[in-house]
Amino acid sequence: MKDLMKIDHLSTYFVNGTDQVKAVDDVSLRVREGETVCIVGESGCGKSVTAMSIMGLVEEPGGKIVNGEIHFEGRDLLQLSKNELRTLRGNEISMIFQEPMSSLNPVLKIGQQIMEPLIVHQKLSKKDARNRAIELIEQVGISRAAQIADSYPHELSGGMLQRIMIAIAISSSPKLLIADEPTTALDVTIQAQILDMLRKFKEQSNMSIMLITHDLGVVAEMADYVIVMYAGKIVEEGEVVKLFQNPKHPYTQGLLKSKPVINQRQDELYSIPGQVPNPLELTESCYFHDRCEHCMDICRTKRPELKEVAEQQKTACWLYEEALVNA
Ligand SMILES: Nc1ncnc2c1ncn2[C@@H]1O[C@H](COP(=O)(O)OP(=O)(O)OP(=O)(O)O)[C@@H](O)[C@H]1O
Ligand SMILES: [Mg+2]
Repeated sequence: MKDLMKIDHLSTYFVNGTDQVKAVDDVSLRVREGETVCIVGESGCGKSVTAMSIMGLVEEPGGKIVNGEIHFEGRDLLQLSKNELRTLRGNEISMIFQEPMSSLNPVLKIGQQIMEPLIVHQKLSKKDARNRAIELIEQVGISRAAQIADSYPHELSGGMLQRIMIAIAISSSPKLLIADEPTTALDVTIQAQILDMLRKFKEQSNMSIMLITHDLGVVAEMADYVIVMYAGKIVEEGEVVKLFQNPKHPYTQGLLKSKPVINQRQDELYSIPGQVPNPLELTESCYFHDRCEHCMDICRTKRPELKEVAEQQKTACWLYEEALVNA
């Protein structure tokens, strides 16, 4: 499969006075054509900021991409002008945001909100855009489409709004769809329907998906390749089956252990001890060391790099450093 997007050494920081948060710290990844890459990790680990960096939507002046390249079909997105980036966003890359309610305009009818990008980016006439909007509403599984087009966002349920967000996102037939926690706020039945729908669109159009979630059940359902982030860095990545069958990093192992399994019910659900480090107090150590049951001296003083530990699997952990093992 060909690379669609390749990110090299991306760092995005937020600066407030003398405080500096390395929200995304030297992250490299790629998404191939037709592939679903899932990004997982606890709250605050930099998942959304990675997505916002790709979309060119990091909020200035506090937030800034300080380093890196984001190649999308040969172009470095970080070198594009605001206009070029806007065109790309309207056509080739779409995003479903973490909070759908806040991305829809409460005073505009649903239909108008779907029509607007069709008129602006695809230059459809008002009439054609309206017809296409109704078609899209039907496509995301909502009946009475014409009536829904004439409704306001507050008249729709959360699940319906999320479908509308998907309708807007796929209206341009994007090559890459970035979905940031698209089903977190929904009940499991609706979640399954929405994930199915994303999968269907992906198969129909060979679209690639970057799916951000903290739900490992969603990862297992959707991912071809998984990226595990912790405190702004990738700590493990790999092909989905390998990562689930043989997680190497103690953090990934902890995440998988935290997932409830019905036939292994315990008195108390497992959770990784401790907390994500304060982003303002990061040192040269492995960021996970004080939560890790395998912590060694070196982990407290030096951060391990992401290295290949098996075919299609990389881990940043001293447990797997050859020199250390052979010492
Ligand atoms: N606008 C901002 N200003 C300052 N700091 C920010 C801003 N946006 C994000 N951050 C910081 O960047 C870090 C990464 O945040 P991000 O939103 O990417 O986390 P996340 O992995 O998406 O978490 P969640 O699962 O809660 O959505 C956090 O420490 C957060 O506080
Ligand atoms: Mg987020």
